[in-house]
Amino acid sequence: MSPTELPDRYGNWAVVAGASAGLGAAFAASAASRGFKVALLARRANALDDTAAKVRDAHGVETRCIVADLASPGVEDAVARATDDLDVGLFVYNAAAEPAGRFLDLPLEEHRLNIAVNCSAPTALCHHFGRRMVDQGRGAIAIVSSMAALQGIRMFVSYGAAKAYELILAEGLWDELREHGVEVLSYVVARPDAYHGADSTAADRVLAPATPEEVAERLLTRLDGGPRQYSHDTDETNALAAAGRPRADVVRAMGEVTSRLARFEAPAG
Ligand SMILES: NC(=O)c1ccc[n+]([C@@H]2O[C@H](COP(=O)([O-])OP(=O)(O)OC[C@H]3O[C@@H](n4cnc5c(N)ncnc54)[C@H](OP(=O)(O)O)[C@@H]3O)[C@@H](O)[C@H]2O)c1
Repeated sequence: MSPTELPDRYGNWAVVAGASAGLGAAFAASAASRGFKVALLARRANALDDTAAKVRDAHGVETRCIVADLASPGVEDAVARATDDLDVGLFVYNAAAEPAGRFLDLPLEEHRLNIAVNCSAPTALCHHFGRRMVDQGRGAIAIVSSMAALQGIRMFVSYGAAKAYELILAEGLWDELREHGVEVLSYVVARPDAYHGADSTAADRVLAPATPEEVAERLLTRLDGGPRQYSHDTDETNALAAAGRPRADVVRAMGEVTSRLARFEAPAG
């Protein structure tokens, strides 16, 4: 692949929503390594500036920071104003709200925030960038979903439901937009550190690590592999196996894992 194959195919700029930290910062860096100029969006201006500086220093590409709250109604208008002058070839929706805890113990406001960030904003921004890309006859969109989207998930009930919305949103868009030259991908991610063994019991995960950088690189190599890709082969194998099992077993098994997460343990003493 030539260093600018993806920008040449899709357009010069990548917009990454949720790019100040975590996987989003890795997606921004991977896009830059492929020659995209990168617009990074998040709420924290300082964190965005730091990440953008690292991306520029490492890859020598132009960057732009967009400070915006994806939970704000009408955020798509602010994003449009900040990007209308750019040839946007790649849009990655990575940001997420993650209400964690038993559904009834969390304030309703947290569940509503989850819907705003994980459902409303990706819908509005895919509508905006999808239309622009269809007009250009080229482009790529990736929505970052989760293994939490594949079954009901105790302790993350509304989060899992919202990630399922994103999963299916991207798959449907893949089918509608491909006839207009636009690739759409649902990217199913698991916790990158799940493969490093700290609290993993599965030997194959220990043997097959996935860092945020590896998760990001894999996305950039599979943009035309829609409607769905997994960030790790093990997850794809597990997902396929789970699809053939009784739903109650699958949901309970996932609940056993999430209930045991350290963050839900009662404090000692
Ligand atoms: N990491 C995992 O374990 C894992 C597992 C499965 C799926 N995923 C998925 O992978 C994606 C990234 O996860 P992550 O763990 O890397 O997340 P993270 O470290 O919490 O980073 C989330 C990013 O989104 C931004 N963001 C959050 N809320 C926002 C809002 N209201 N408006 C604008 N920006 C907002 C954050 O920046 P600011 O705080 O500066 O706004 C940050 O840049 C998510 O879609 C998540 O569902 C992650």
